[in-house]
Amino acid sequence: MKKFKAYRVHTIDGKPVCRFETLSLDDLDPGPVVIKTAYSAVTYKDAMAARGVGKNVRTDRPCVTGVDLSGEVVSSADSRFREGDKVIVTNYKLGVDQDGGYADYARVPADWIVPLPEGLSLYEAMALGTSGLTAALAVDRLEQAGLKPAQGPVAVTGSTGGVGSLAVDIFAKRGFDVTAITGKLDQADFLKSIGAKTVMSSRDLLADKSPLVAKMLWAGALDNVGGEYLDRLTAYAMPHAKISVAGMAVGAEWKTTVLPLILRSIDIMGINVSRQLKMPERQRLWKRLGSDLKPQNLAKIARPIAFEELDKAMDRFFNVTTIGRVVVEVGQKAERLA
Ligand SMILES: NC(=O)c1ccc[n+]([C@@H]2O[C@H](COP(=O)([O-])OP(=O)(O)OC[C@H]3O[C@@H](n4cnc5c(N)ncnc54)[C@H](OP(=O)(O)O)[C@@H]3O)[C@@H](O)[C@H]2O)c1
Repeated sequence: MKKFKAYRVHTIDGKPVCRFETLSLDDLDPGPVVIKTAYSAVTYKDAMAARGVGKNVRTDRPCVTGVDLSGEVVSSADSRFREGDKVIVTNYKLGVDQDGGYADYARVPADWIVPLPEGLSLYEAMALGTSGLTAALAVDRLEQAGLKPAQGPVAVTGSTGGVGSLAVDIFAKRGFDVTAITGKLDQADFLKSIGAKTVMSSRDLLADKSPLVAKMLWAGALDNVGGEYLDRLTAYAMPHAKISVAGMAVGAEWKTTVLPLILRSIDIMGINVSRQLKMPERQRLWKRLGSDLKPQNLAKIARPIAFEELDKAMDRFFNVTTIGRVVVEVGQKAERLA
């Protein structure tokens, strides 16, 4: 039987031990659709699994991690897919409780698979991945709630991260004036080059602690950080602002008062691209990511790394030095993007 390379996490004495191993298909969790992986990515969730943070990966047996993958169907026992189909899988239990994207092959349930939409290559699909889907859902929901560029600027926190940088680009493409809020002011030129009109340091955002700030800066926002950041976004919001909440990079707590929500009639909406995001909606958003929501600066936002570099890439997530998206060349070398 054919052997291939995989990056697996074992839990030994309660601690994660990651290593490259040689596996065959029978070593993978069963699933009716066999995919030859082209690319995966590195997300915060992957870094958590590799370093044992938050205990998000199964511990009773080893797991091939990698919560995102794109590739080509090799065989399918499900009539919805056939050999040669190009596909994307993100989230569900992939890479945490079902062997995931860090292997030359994956076996997955057909219900988790999105056909690669027109307008995206397999590489671009992973330049977007979970982060792109999250940014797309946030923009889509804000617009459906009535947010329009004429109402005022939008803010994005954690703007050099995967979700943040893609959101900056997508909002700008949709015609919004974007304020990119970041702890990395040295990345201001990068943020402007992907569509930010204004760059604000996180320190400046957090400086004023009053519940309502006189300067009402934003008609909309996407928060990837949580905690005080979300509190400050509400304090600086314009009347009737809409704020989508996707992340909690600084923690799950949200300390605030209800004053801005009531006095400025602010809408807060939660964003979740886990299995709660139903397949028709998932497919609709991926189609938009291949067309009207497709970022214009993917070549700047995503960078490829060789499969062998994977372990080193994990630690960068914890010292907050990763910029944009990291695409892993599992079975294919990265294509050059325009
Ligand atoms: N809701 C969902 O379905 C969903 C899906 C995907 C991800 N997420 C969550 O969304 C968040 C962003 O994901 P991501 O993939 O973009 O992560 P990421 O690439 O690690 O980016 C997070 C960004 O947040 C900022 N940040 C990180 N740690 C911080 C800290 N301690 N204090 C202040 N700022 C900090 C940094 O940006 P700056 O340096 O530019 O400030 C960092 O680049 C994460 O919490 C992730 O778990 C949620």
